Amino acid sequence: DTALETAFKITRKTDGISAVERERLVADPGFGRAFTDHMAVITYTEGRGWHSPEILPRQPLMLDPAASVLHYAQEIFEGMKAYRAPDGGILLFRPEANARRFQKSAERMAMAQLPEDLFLEAVDQLVTIDQAWVPKPEVGTLYIRPFMIATEAALGVKPSAEFKFIVIACAAGEYFSSDAGAVSVWVEENSVRASRGGTGIAKCGGNYAASLTAQMEGKAHGCHQVLFLDAEERRWLEEMGGMNVMMVFEDGTLVTPPLDTGTILHGITRDSLLTLARDNGLTVKEERYAIDQLYADAAAGRLKEVFACGTAAVVTPIGTFKSGKGDCTIGDGRSTGPVTAKLRQTLCDIQFGRTNDPHDWVKRV
Ligand code: PLP
Ligand code: COI
Repeated sequence: DTALETAFKITRKTDGISAVERERLVADPGFGRAFTDHMAVITYTEGRGWHSPEILPRQPLMLDPAASVLHYAQEIFEGMKAYRAPDGGILLFRPEANARRFQKSAERMAMAQLPEDLFLEAVDQLVTIDQAWVPKPEVGTLYIRPFMIATEAALGVKPSAEFKFIVIACAAGEYFSSDAGAVSVWVEENSVRASRGGTGIAKCGGNYAASLTAQMEGKAHGCHQVLFLDAEERRWLEEMGGMNVMMVFEDGTLVTPPLDTGTILHGITRDSLLTLARDNGLTVKEERYAIDQLYADAAAGRLKEVFACGTAAVVTPIGTFKSGKGDCTIGDGRSTGPVTAKLRQTLCDIQFGRTNDPHDWVKRV
């Protein structure tokens, strides 16, 4: 699109790593470290609106030490991926859903609203210029991290009058090392992630900072992730530090916590899997489910499969829950159950362009 191409000022990186070095990184990228050469930046100034869209060589930011983001955490982000299709082309999965969720997060955090088309164009431009960083499908994906920070230098507690929207990206393999198989999850009984009226529904950095002590506690118990319970009764499953959770029962019903509590991130993977599950004839229930019930249903063999889902995690089986009450094993604690496997396969086939896309979710870059 030439009009928008000229709207973004493009400054190419000239002193990047060699193609050989890049290929080495992209062949075994890990998660969240193998950053691409460029970044997209759009600036917001009150009274002027969004302006100066640019693609720049990836570089450190210059921020005033009084920038509001550093003091009052006015910050939001998104997580999405670009996928290498069989014909070598590059695909995005439901990018407009990320753009809309970004607007919702901005609204909650009193930040400027970035128009959906600017969000999408910035992602498109960055993926295009850094397309050599999109791994082969057998290796992984390009993980894309759009975010917005409050840059006004002002220590009064008020919404910033200046923001920067930035998109960075990295080549990415599995979020959980593949030898993990089914992961283990710590059930957090002390801290909570979100309460009604809080910021759980927004994808803001503070939610993740607040989850880290629980994550450390989980790690100390040998767990990969943390499951948070509701703030009021400390009883109902909500979600994990960075992914939603789903349960499969012996009668084929798929259950996941509902969104109407306003405390859970509206996962795009979650929404997509519920649609695919219904397409596959499963009964889908978005309803509250108690942790005691989970322990009881697992022990009685009624609860057959549990999995985590999200952009980074894709669909990851959970084999064990651990808490102060003891351990609870799902199935044999190791294998991926048939429903989990089928949903993961169906989702990935669509995302990587290997099958038809009945819901028109995939967009070619
Ligand atoms: N819940 C939390 C707290 C997350 O950070 C994420 C990841 O983005 C998700 C759920 C899953 O959301 P999505 O499927 O849109 O990536
Ligand atoms: C994502 O899945 O995109 C997230 O933001 C989760 C994070 C744990 C990487």
